[in-house]
Amino acid sequence: MANITFSSPKLKKDITVYATAGDTSTLLSIAKEHKLPVNFECENGECGSCAIQVSVLGNKQPLGIHLTEKEKTVLKLNGKITHAQIEAAENSDIPPPWRLACQFIVRNEDILVTF
Ligand code: FES
Repeated sequence: MANITFSSPKLKKDITVYATAGDTSTLLSIAKEHKLPVNFECENGECGSCAIQVSVLGNKQPLGIHLTEKEKTVLKLNGKITHAQIEAAENSDIPPPWRLACQFIVRNEDILVTF
């Protein structure tokens, strides 16, 4: 379904994992499954500790970007995204620079996750 590459100063090298078809796990649960040290506390979109940068790899334009209400609120409060970036994501499918790993549902696209 999707290759997810994790990159971080906490890792000796980048690690790519494969998310299987039909998998609707959050990015955080995939990171935990592979023992990747993405920060987290609440796992419920409230604390902001799991903020990560996500970029889509390849030429495919991502479609239907969905930020949860909690994600919008927490990322905005933490200064990670602006109101304009939320609007651009929702109206024009322009990926916002930051997401919450506990809210981000992995889809059928290859991504680079930086944390
Ligand atoms: S773990 Fe708290 S917002 Fe994701």
